[in-house]
Amino acid sequence: MIQAYTCKSYDEISEIAAGLIAAELYWKPNAVLGLATGSSPVGLYERLIEKYRMGSLDFSHATSVNLDEYRGLDSEHPQSYRYFMQEKLFKHINIAPEKTHVPDGSERDADKACRDYDRLIESLGGIDIQLLGIGRNGHIGFNEPSDSFVKPTHCVSLSADTIEANQRFFSSREEVPTEAYTMGIGSIMSARRILVIASGRDKAMAVRGMLEGPVTPSLPASILQLHNNVVLIADREAMGL
Ligand code: F6R
Repeated sequence: MIQAYTCKSYDEISEIAAGLIAAELYWKPNAVLGLATGSSPVGLYERLIEKYRMGSLDFSHATSVNLDEYRGLDSEHPQSYRYFMQEKLFKHINIAPEKTHVPDGSERDADKACRDYDRLIESLGGIDIQLLGIGRNGHIGFNEPSDSFVKPTHCVSLSADTIEANQRFFSSREEVPTEAYTMGIGSIMSARRILVIASGRDKAMAVRGMLEGPVTPSLPASILQLHNNVVLIADREAMGL
């Protein structure tokens, strides 16, 4: 079941969502935080950094696991998700670098990269709170619309829509990687809590499908209807349909 909360602005989404992540850390200082990249969480990460600087949040016992990484980009590449996380969050807070995890985009052996990541998540005892953005096509992580839900971490070919949406971060469409490693639906659905954030009119179709549509791999976020602890924080535009 998905609890939905409508906000007036992106800032309000960020404030509320940061409060929920902070609350998780107050309850459980050594929580495993499932994190996301993209535009949606940037404001939330800024709020977490503010709380840390004010002395009201401590990440020293926390662990993080990110949803996904482009295959073929190493951690130094400015468009890699590891680099994004360093710049937008990790380097500003007191999380131990060795406790931050992102799939290894530089690992060419896809089976190994995916197997290692699932073993890692398992060894951590699963994810306490998983943060998700949602793609315009309803993807979560890089679980793209398809014929079936894939449970383990896997290598995906990115859809044309996702490549187009992510092109804004690269100098040309040709530079956008065409494959990524993504946490599967199994790890996401095993998270004890799931926090989805969505902002803007271009997410409205996906949000409607997630909340009200049939549960179908053609709109991967719809699977969240089967989880018993999901909160969606979205603005009016994303909730518009
Ligand atoms: C990012 C991720 C993606 C994004 C989604 C929304 O790690 O897994 O599923 O959450 O593409 O992206 P933004 O927030 O840029 O609209």
